[in-house]
Amino acid sequence: MNLIFLGAPGSGKGTQAVRLAEKISVLHLSTGDLLRAAVKNGTELGKKAEQFMTAGELVPDDVIVGLIEEKQTSGALGSGFILDGFPRTIPQAEALDAMFGRVGAKIDRAVLLDVDDEEIIKRLSGRMYCSGCQAGYNYPANMPKVEGVCDKCGGKLVRRPDDEPDVVKNRLEVYKKQTQPIENYYRNQSVLLEIKGIGTPNDIFGRIEEGLGVA
Ligand code: AP5
Ligand code: MG
Repeated sequence: MNLIFLGAPGSGKGTQAVRLAEKISVLHLSTGDLLRAAVKNGTELGKKAEQFMTAGELVPDDVIVGLIEEKQTSGALGSGFILDGFPRTIPQAEALDAMFGRVGAKIDRAVLLDVDDEEIIKRLSGRMYCSGCQAGYNYPANMPKVEGVCDKCGGKLVRRPDDEPDVVKNRLEVYKKQTQPIENYYRNQSVLLEIKGIGTPNDIFGRIEEGLGVA
């Protein structure tokens, strides 16, 4: 199955995509995770991307399309995938269709997680992760036993720089302006699956499984 996960920042794409990829045995590919790793490792890609990410802006289309093209030509996408956070603009969606058109592949469903701004701000302002093992926490629902310290490895908990309130505000604006138009792009292709993204992660996962017919 070839899937795309769409939704505003903090709508739960990563949370749900990781779980679904495991269940249906496909590759989970998050462009945000790839870019953050590139920034951390100081690669050329990381150097190109960092200033955009820190400001909550999108990385230029040619950079990100090049990254996905590399994955496609290396065969990494051949046995099914969930793309989490790509495409994010109409040119990216068109580039993906062109890329797959050349090899006779297609997107089966684009899963859209629908969450209101108030909930998103709450989720992102509470998000922390371990600088060592990357384990995720969210205040106050999922707090560590000792303030600021990872339960699993004792590492220091930190915030994503783009979860600062001003940057979150910009990410939401960028989503509405540059990414939301692709909802219609996939609606017009009759592959859009709209999922209410409010409730517990378990409830939402159940809705996704049902919508995709993989329950
Ligand atoms: P990216 O990493 O994709 O970030 P994002 O889309 O802004 O979304 P997040 O990862 O913050 O949220 P999510 O929807 O994955 O939610 P999550 O499951 O983590 O992109 C980062 C940056 O990289 C972009 O701003 C851009 O600069 C660049 N970039 C990436 N792709 C690009 C592209 N294609 N083109 C150009 N630039 C690109 O959940 C959020 C929090 O909520 C977590 O703490 C989680 O535990 C909690 N949570 C999840 N579900 C629930 C629930 N049901 N109830 C309560 N809390 C919940
Ligand atoms: Mg994510």
